[in-house]
Amino acid sequence: MEASTEAVREFYELFPYPSGAPTLRIGFDIRYLMSLVRMERPTDRPIRILDAGCSRGVGALACATLQPDVQVLGVDINRIALEEAQQEATRRGLNNVEFAEVDLSTLAGLDVPEGGFDVIMSSGVLHHLLDPAEGLRLLKGALAPHGVLALMVYSKSGRREILEISQAIDALVNKNQALPAQLADAREVVRVVSQKPNAPSAWKDAYRVDDVEFVDRYLHIQECVYDVPGLFKLIAQGGLSFLRWMDPPAWQAKSADLDSDLLQKARALSPMKSARLVDNLRLGPRIMEVYLCQPENRARPMPIPEGLAHAVFAVHPEVRFHTVQRNIWCATRIEVMSIERRNDEVTPVPPGPLTAIALVLRDQNEPFQGQSLISAMVEEGHSPESVTKAILHAIDQEWVYCPHAVDLVY
Ligand SMILES: C[S@@+](CC[C@H](N)C(=O)[O-])C[C@H]1O[C@@H](n2cnc3c(N)ncnc32)[C@H](O)[C@@H]1O
Repeated sequence: MEASTEAVREFYELFPYPSGAPTLRIGFDIRYLMSLVRMERPTDRPIRILDAGCSRGVGALACATLQPDVQVLGVDINRIALEEAQQEATRRGLNNVEFAEVDLSTLAGLDVPEGGFDVIMSSGVLHHLLDPAEGLRLLKGALAPHGVLALMVYSKSGRREILEISQAIDALVNKNQALPAQLADAREVVRVVSQKPNAPSAWKDAYRVDDVEFVDRYLHIQECVYDVPGLFKLIAQGGLSFLRWMDPPAWQAKSADLDSDLLQKARALSPMKSARLVDNLRLGPRIMEVYLCQPENRARPMPIPEGLAHAVFAVHPEVRFHTVQRNIWCATRIEVMSIERRNDEVTPVPPGPLTAIALVLRDQNEPFQGQSLISAMVEEGHSPESVTKAILHAIDQEWVYCPHAVDLVY
């Protein structure tokens, strides 16, 4: 193992990241991820997932718990975190998740299944490698031809304030000490600065985070950051294709940010240029989260209006439905219908066809044909045109997605 990788391991073994219990991550649902690309997975083998840099297994364990038919492998160099992840898997009685020590700089010892992994997730890891492009190239080699790679790396603009604090700490703290001593001194610097009346909010935030988050943010020994062109360069160096942002609307300028002429110009830009604009205006997310695929694969087109009746849909597992209902004499009255998408705020759904479709979707836990949705809504008195519009809205907002045919067989 390279000396710098060894040092990163030592760093994380002292403070395994993150603290807290297993959590659901954006893009945890494998069938949804695979539905984004044209090529279907083969059906003669189980679905296999790699969590590259799984640490304590917070993502891998949640993924395995909710998808018992999916085989998950989590790898990392942090032996303490891997041990903890394995113990948690045993405690939960999970037999579809394994953990192994693998250095992502070489992938030596990685057990790549025949045909490659169907999905690889790597969140917050590649930017800690000495050569992230080589790390991505190696992951590409382990990804199936039909596979999807979900990647998160640091954003230069999103990390700006963190880097400023980290540089101030560098100037004031003896970095030759052991990490716990650096932490104590750096905490003191942050305490003093954050309590000054004009302290920037980023310093107050630094004061509040726990030790694990603190060292990861402000005392890291090996990390790099990406602007949008830098990210696209990394993807090209890795030999992969950009499929889409994990949260595309977050990377588009909105009417609240620009007036209509400028907004029109912004909307006409390519996804890369549009994202660069949003990033330069500091309107974008604080991290870069993308879905990638092999260059021979492509994004799967969404059904056209004429094809809605024959399309098969599933409710997007990251959507949460909130209904406020009142039961009155022999009837139920829906008073508020709202939808929560990913990390978004809860958004109220306007009454009419959109509430009607949301109510059908709320109770739908199996894939269903578009025709059954259309019939249910028309029967309730909605016009076919308004139903088509509502379904297209549900597709656009990712309330639903279209699973591949192979995933309709249980
Ligand atoms: C910030 S943590 C992210 C952990 C996890 N993916 C998550 O989202 O919570 C970074 C992880 O990358 C791992 N890591 C860093 N360099 C690595 C390498 N060369 N090979 C494997 N894992 C590495 C660290 O051990 C650490 O667990």
